[in-house]
Amino acid sequence: MLSRPRRNRKSAAVRGLCRESQISSQNLIYPLFVQEGARDDEIASMPGCRRWSLDGLVREAAEAHALGINAIVLFPAIDSALKTPGAERCCDDDGLVQRAVAALKTELPELAVITDVALDPYNSDGHDGLVAPDGRILNDETVDILCRQALSHARSGADIVAPSDMMDGRIGAIRAALDDEGFTEVSILSYTAKYASAYYGPFRGALDSAPKAGDKKTYQMDPANAAEALREAALDAEEGADMLMVKPAGPYLDVIALLAENSDLPVAAYQVSGEYLMIQSAAAAGWINRIAVIEESLLGIRRAGASAILTYFAKEVAGWWRP
Ligand code: PBG
Repeated sequence: MLSRPRRNRKSAAVRGLCRESQISSQNLIYPLFVQEGARDDEIASMPGCRRWSLDGLVREAAEAHALGINAIVLFPAIDSALKTPGAERCCDDDGLVQRAVAALKTELPELAVITDVALDPYNSDGHDGLVAPDGRILNDETVDILCRQALSHARSGADIVAPSDMMDGRIGAIRAALDDEGFTEVSILSYTAKYASAYYGPFRGALDSAPKAGDKKTYQMDPANAAEALREAALDAEEGADMLMVKPAGPYLDVIALLAENSDLPVAAYQVSGEYLMIQSAAAAGWINRIAVIEESLLGIRRAGASAILTYFAKEVAGWWRP
């Protein structure tokens, strides 16, 4: 036999030489939840994750950073008393996210801090955009407030802003707003292909941010579509995005591959709360080998072409290489 592919699999040493994809702490982004007060609460819908106090957040980020994680993304749990139909509190310079960014950048200046630009944690309707009386999501009015939110994140010291709202035209508008105020070095990680996914359920439980009425299908993408992601990617590139994102990750590996092949921008992918929870719950039941499934899920996302992965497993995985 001329070719025996098994020769390249004969030992761990040889397999290591032939590996096409790797996971490294450099590729991982750690999503972290933050809340007011002094408590670090377990999140019921996401076992193993916490809503951190400001102090707890800085401690957790420092531990992750010491293990080699270089980027985190922040999600705030906003007090229901502060949620309004206009989501005005998202732009407060002394808001929870803004104080968290400032604290992280003071304590851990080399850690890249990414913020989520969207209205849902602040909007009493639970939508990523402003809701008209007839239930429609208002695009251009939302983009105006997203620009102010992104500016406020930039003022607090964010390295990267990540619009996750899926409004049309928001990347260009946010880029212009940042540049006008002198924030030419603040990057934009666009949620380019964010699908209207049932996999976000546990996350909405963590932040109490589920839509009060309707769904997100008029702005997030239809899970049936891939070509549409190319169109979104082309617009984001034209409008000045620095990095693209596909979300969720596991069920959309084809979309990650499509963008990686067709765009010269780096592609990130978000292994979302539902993907996390399925692994956690199957492992808790003793039905799967947890560590092996985590590794395989992340390798699949890297193999598809993602340069960075947002994953709730980031800190744990970074720890695998540091006993
Ligand atoms: C909202 C946002 C969501 C997630 C990140 N940003 C939820 C949504 O769109 O409803 C989900 C992340 C996850 O499920 O882990 N702007």
